[in-house]
This record gives sequence, C-alpha cells and structure tokens, in this order.
Amino acid sequence: MTVDSAVTAIAHPNIALVKYWGKRDEEYILPHTDSLSVTLDIYPTTTTVRRDTALDRDQVTVNRAPATGEMLTRIRTFLDLVRGMSGRAEYLRVDTTNTVPTGAGLASSASGFAALAMAAAVAYGLDLNPTGLSRLARRGSGSACRSIFGGFALWHAGTGIGEEGDLSSYADPIDAGALDLALVVAVVDAAPKEISSRAAMRRTIETSPLYAPWAESSHQDLADMRAAITRGDLDAVGEIAERNALGMHATMLAARPAVRYLSPASLRVLDCVGQLRRTGIGAFATMDAGPNVKVLCRGGHAERVADALRSLSDTRSVITARPGPGARLLDGDSR
Ligand code: PMV
Repeated sequence: MTVDSAVTAIAHPNIALVKYWGKRDEEYILPHTDSLSVTLDIYPTTTTVRRDTALDRDQVTVNRAPATGEMLTRIRTFLDLVRGMSGRAEYLRVDTTNTVPTGAGLASSASGFAALAMAAAVAYGLDLNPTGLSRLARRGSGSACRSIFGGFALWHAGTGIGEEGDLSSYADPIDAGALDLALVVAVVDAAPKEISSRAAMRRTIETSPLYAPWAESSHQDLADMRAAITRGDLDAVGEIAERNALGMHATMLAARPAVRYLSPASLRVLDCVGQLRRTGIGAFATMDAGPNVKVLCRGGHAERVADALRSLSDTRSVITARPGPGARLLDGDSR
C-alpha cells in the first residue's frame, strides 16, 4: 500500500456581478453567456488530497463528515475526469473544510471545486497553467473557474460544444485598478437550497419565456460593467450588478413551475438597500441561488451598511468581504 504525501489547496468563493445562468452544454459545463465576478476574502475552502493505492474508490470528507449522495457523486465524477487527463489510476482521500454554509447560495461549490481542481491536478502530476486550471475547475462547477483568480475575473462563454467548447471557455483576471469595493453579506438563511442551481438553470432555459431576453441583455450588462470598472465608477458597477441579478431571478420566477430562491427576508434586505440609497449611501444588492443577499458598496460605507443590515430582525449574520486572493497551494506540500 502506498499513501502519497498530502497536497493542500485553498480557494475562496466568488460573487458574480454579471451572472452565469444557463448552460449550452451540460456535460462540459459551457455557459450561454460571459460572466464577471469578484473573488472574496472570506469563507475559504481548504482541501487536502492524498493518492492511496489501497482505495477502491475516492473517499471524501466535508467538514470531517463522510460526503454522501449527490455531492459525493459529483466529486467522484470530477476526479474520474482528472484521472483520465493524467493517465493515473489511484484513488484519492479528499478532506475538505468549508467555512461557508454548504449549498446555501453562498458559492461553496465555487471555492470547493477551485480548491479540489488545484489539489487534484498537482496530486496527479498534471502541469496546468492558470487557464488550464480554470477550465478544469469549470468541469466541477461552472462558477469555480472564476475562483482560480483573485479579484475580478471574466469567464468567457467561448464557442462550440464538447471538446471544442471546452478549450474556448475559461476565466481570465481583470484589472479593476483602485476600485474600492466591499461586499456586505447578509445571511438570512443558511439552510441548503431546495433545488440545485444545476436543476434550476435547466428548468429556466427549458420553460422560461424571460430567459432569452435576459441572456441577450446580459451582453450589454457585461460591456457596461467592464466600462464602469475601467473608469472606477462604483455606483455604476453596483447598478449594473443589481439589475443583472434581479433579471436573473425574474427568469426563474417565470419558469414553469417557478423557481424562487428569494424569501420575504431577502426582500426586506432589498428594501433596506433601497432605503440606504435614499440616504445617499451607494449600496446595491446581488443574489445567487439562495435567499442570502450580498450588498455592494464602497469600503468606507461598509460599516454603516453592515449596521443597517444587522438591525433587520431576520438577518442571522452579517459579514463584510473585500476582493480576495486566487486559489493557491499551501506550502510544505509535495509537488
Ligand atoms: O456554478 P454553479 O452551478 O454553482 O452556478 C451558480 C450560478 C450563480 O451563482 C447563481 C451565478 C454565478 O454566476 O455565480
């Protein structure tokens, strides 16, 4: 029996300011539209992997408990892919620690698959540059391709499907200059979501009459967002992010049957954000596949925004994030 030494990678979640919602190829996880995100400095995922010739399947723990069900299947399918690329056969012991609630629309799959892609690639001896790693992370969870990079990242939808599409679709870092952005996260419910983003996307594309118009308007949102970032216009960044997110949720509400991630508590946070704007604070909301709301504002306003969100009766916790680092290996591991 041979157990190789451990490889540990750490990655952070990212929040999209122009969202990814909908795949043109489900197997290769190729999106319909480009998306743009910021990687955060909170809620890291740390993943350690070890090749072990004694195993006849990958063994996975998440927060020290054995992974089961759909999550375990997804991780094993992903590791089969990495093994296929490397030509190696040994299975892995995988131990993951998430500091973010899993499956609550707080991007745990982005940090999770970014860390796993990096650790597994090294453990299997794949020599991937950041673009290659981003492509690989994408196969675990689409949004994970953006967490390979720190700060702002643009995920190119690319063209084509299958192998051809695979090569064309990856994230790139974007220079956001001195944009002084904070993201204040209002956790209103940390329970796992009732419908996965994967299933919700599929239903939206297949049944929502609002999907095509949103995807179309998303191209303009992306162009406007890039211009706003370049000129350092934080209010415009917030406005575009908010309209893009609300549009994405509208596509889901129009699906048949409707997908609704936002709860009454989420709407109260949106009301609070509107109220802050009326008092002259540039605060803007974005929401993903869950009821929790992330509020964009300038760094100097983050404390006032956090206080306002904390004063709402159904806010469970409030945490302020800043742009954070890309995925990296922890020192002392075997390469
Ligand atoms: O990568 P997934 O399947 O977790 O997709 C999540 C997509 C959103 O978070 C809702 C939007 C985005 O671009 O991150």
